[in-house]
Amino acid sequence: ADVKRYQFDIVMSNVSRLCHEKAMVTVNGSYPGPTIYAREGDRVIVNVTNHVKHNMTIHWHGLKQRRNGWADGPAYVTQCPIGSGGSYVYDFNVTRQRGTLWWHAHIAWMRATVHGAIVILPAAGVPYPFPKPDDEAEIVLGEWWHADVETVERQGSMLGMAPNMSDAHTINGKPGPLVPFCSEKHTYALQVQSGKTYLLRIINAAVNDELFFSIAGHNMTVVEIDATYTKPFAASIVQLSPGQTMNVLVSADQSPGRYFMVAKPFNDVPIPADNKTATAILQYAGVPTSVVPALPQTMPATNSTGSVAAFHDKLRSLNSPRYPAYVPLAVDRHLLYTIGLNIDPCETCLNRSRLAASLNNITFVMPRTALLQAHYYGQKGVFAADFPDRPPARFNYTGVPLTAGLGTSLGTRLSKIAYNATVELVLQDTNLLSVESHPFHLHGYNFFVVGRGVGNFDPAKDPAKYNLVDPPERNTVGVPAGGWTAIRFRADNPGVWFLHCHLEVHTSWGLKMAFLVEDGSGPDESVLPPPKDLPKC
Ligand code: C2O
Repeated sequence: ADVKRYQFDIVMSNVSRLCHEKAMVTVNGSYPGPTIYAREGDRVIVNVTNHVKHNMTIHWHGLKQRRNGWADGPAYVTQCPIGSGGSYVYDFNVTRQRGTLWWHAHIAWMRATVHGAIVILPAAGVPYPFPKPDDEAEIVLGEWWHADVETVERQGSMLGMAPNMSDAHTINGKPGPLVPFCSEKHTYALQVQSGKTYLLRIINAAVNDELFFSIAGHNMTVVEIDATYTKPFAASIVQLSPGQTMNVLVSADQSPGRYFMVAKPFNDVPIPADNKTATAILQYAGVPTSVVPALPQTMPATNSTGSVAAFHDKLRSLNSPRYPAYVPLAVDRHLLYTIGLNIDPCETCLNRSRLAASLNNITFVMPRTALLQAHYYGQKGVFAADFPDRPPARFNYTGVPLTAGLGTSLGTRLSKIAYNATVELVLQDTNLLSVESHPFHLHGYNFFVVGRGVGNFDPAKDPAKYNLVDPPERNTVGVPAGGWTAIRFRADNPGVWFLHCHLEVHTSWGLKMAFLVEDGSGPDESVLPPPKDLPKC
């Protein structure tokens, strides 16, 4: 195993897209930011130096950070922010994981411009469990706003209104030629050679949009999601929610030419949807760039919940002797969390109210110091460890839209979990205000997605239909609009771990909470001591 060292300088950079130039926060001046390369078993050390006026933290999305929440990154959850002029060293091991993950700012909405890929190759000498590709490329999907991130965030969260839609979606930071405003030079082209096979490492780094991705004329073979291998299957269109990653194999086996790659939103709310499409080009070697690219196939409708469900039903853990799926079969702790959108009184807001969001009708309030520090040092008064295991009252979660009882309760409440307990969490969408799909991300763990359905979760019938053999293993999962998703994990990573919707606007509205996983009694079962340079609040 190696030590991989990186220097991340947080700087202001002038970036222009679609004839608009803006100064924005980047890492080392690049957008998307630099890729981290490591092998399974390596230690990664990233020194982050903050040269801008904004506070900063970096999250290594999907890295488990066992016992080492200090390197996880969410502001006020595991650390206080790195202030202007400050530095902090993220020091972590890549253990029993390989595939594609990503890193992003985890404070305010800074991740809109501060994000990049993490490529974890198998340990030296260990092959992929699929035919070796000739080459690899990262495909980072994102969103571009002409406005400052702060302005977009203010509208989406502080004024309590729906967020500004982005001005473009992007593929590796570029909107592509189908966007009509001087986008020609802002087009990503993936160079391929006839007859060769490529591993594409796709990341959805968008702020508020789930996305479909496809390549004209070419099938993809899905081999990995969220840095876990899957049973390979062919797909012409794949779907990724913000936070999710996916490796696909693509063979350059069509007649040499130019083919559009497309990223288009999936958005199933009944309000006007952002449907701007980003494009890039799959470019065969030797084909002149004057050749008109083959048009993309017909993409699913923006609100095509059915095609998303069908795609997710095909995802299975590889579950091979070398990469077994350790699905918890017995459950120590059953949790049911309802997802609600609420209306909350707000003195400073337009209309004196704001949109809010909640789990079990609790809208999470961020503390002023970091939860992990408060836990480690036994500091009182920062949080309560009394998050309820079930919603406050039984109701028809997905029935007619509820317009009464939209209020929510505010609190910094954590759920305490015993070390090594097996946990089942059912996330149940509700029709408070409206149904909507929500990509949920759990820090510190991978989990198994054992079940998924529409309507109300039925504890008497639905568990009989679970897949406990080869369910997909992930760190971020979609809860279908007006439906539910059941996940299981073993709580073998002590610390404070954030659970939140990865649509940034919903996180801002309070759709988040944290687990407090207690220390075990064994020698390697407790939270490590914090590093000396841990920032102070
Ligand atoms: Cu990718 Cu808590 O985030």
